[in-house]
Amino acid sequence: MAKIALGVTSSVSIYKACEVLRGFQKAGHDVQVIMSRNAAKLISPLLFNSLSGHKTIVELFEEDHPWSVAHIALAKEVGLLAVVPATANIIGKFASGVADDFLSTFYLAVEAPILVAPAMNEAMLLHRQTQDNMMKLRAQGVDFVEPAKGYLACGDEGWGRLADPDDIVRRGLELLKKRVSLQGKTILVTAGPTREYLDPVRFLSNRSSGKMGFEMAREALLRGARVILVAGPSQVAPPAKADLVRIESAADMEKEVLKRFPKADIVVMAAAVADFTFAERTGRKIKRQDLPEALRLVRTMDILKALGERKKGQFLVGFAAETEDLRANAGKKIKAKKLDFIVANDVSREGTGFDADDNQALLIDAKGHATETQKMSKRELSRVIWDAIEASLGKRR
Ligand SMILES: Cc1cc2nc3c(=O)[nH]c(=O)nc-3n(C[C@H](O)[C@H](O)[C@H](O)COP(=O)(O)O)c2cc1C
Repeated sequence: MAKIALGVTSSVSIYKACEVLRGFQKAGHDVQVIMSRNAAKLISPLLFNSLSGHKTIVELFEEDHPWSVAHIALAKEVGLLAVVPATANIIGKFASGVADDFLSTFYLAVEAPILVAPAMNEAMLLHRQTQDNMMKLRAQGVDFVEPAKGYLACGDEGWGRLADPDDIVRRGLELLKKRVSLQGKTILVTAGPTREYLDPVRFLSNRSSGKMGFEMAREALLRGARVILVAGPSQVAPPAKADLVRIESAADMEKEVLKRFPKADIVVMAAAVADFTFAERTGRKIKRQDLPEALRLVRTMDILKALGERKKGQFLVGFAAETEDLRANAGKKIKAKKLDFIVANDVSREGTGFDADDNQALLIDAKGHATETQKMSKRELSRVIWDAIEASLGKRR
């Protein structure tokens, strides 16, 4: 049994929130309702009190909250926040980080999955601002149950009708299930670039930002896994709950990954490890006039290949950054390195791949089944990739 927070805002379809509450309860979950002040003008919170068995929360500043700082304490407890119905207003507040009441403040504190079911007049839904807000939230990992077309309470016919309560409940339960889908698993994720130093100030590196690997780690954590994150230098903040191992060079990466590999169930190698390192490294800065014309490079270890050779039941996921013949090259890599799954992306495209916030990928499993994803945020893509990995794992069992 999980605790679900049900956010209710002031749309005319508010009465359907009662059905959604019941649906979650029927599935065995405990529901805490949070209403916006305006919602409490449309329906009395008392109705939700009696349906949920808990006092409905409306005010942020209330003396008799049983918790010390209620929005933070409750945020830690819930397995899902479902906002049904969601007004254009609350979607705008979520998208811009406004936190001026309980629900919008709570939203920022929740780390569990968030499901939003919008309901509004068609013009409001199709307004550029609302669409931009929804797109922004999707990119941040918020799930939507899209509104349907039909008769609207304002008398219009069109898009904006709240999705069917059964569909909302089903989607919410799916998200709850995903929260534990990787429970008990230890997942080793590598992310970011490596740096190969020539001297204390000069190094050889690449354009990897670490974003894709961090999103893979974050999503695995959300699905209940223990995550060991071996990360190269990156400006992006890694997910706080991962066991972080910072490295710099390909040799460090090799050492840390090989050490942790035997205990991992799944390994996701999203780091861009340098293929070459300098044959010699000096402890002191080389003076400009002393720099040789040619510097000798030596190959680094192919860590992915080494893991493929050593694996004993681990599910091995590789990433391939290609600029041409994506499918053929990724197909070769999966075989040559004995991978179970590969995520290939075309790094020559504008706006995706290295250092970008978005990505588009070709996912290939060990049987050669390939799926091409749309262009989406790396956060959204990490979910698509984990869904596909879990499907492959399920078939392997
Ligand atoms: C009777 C009534 C019905 C409304 N229905 C909707 C609706 O379906 N969707 C919506 O976005 N706004 C609707 N509104 C407007 C919102 O209530 C208004 O934007 C409000 O400021 C939202 O506050 P809240 O998001 O804090 O609940 C409605 C207003 C009234 C008076």
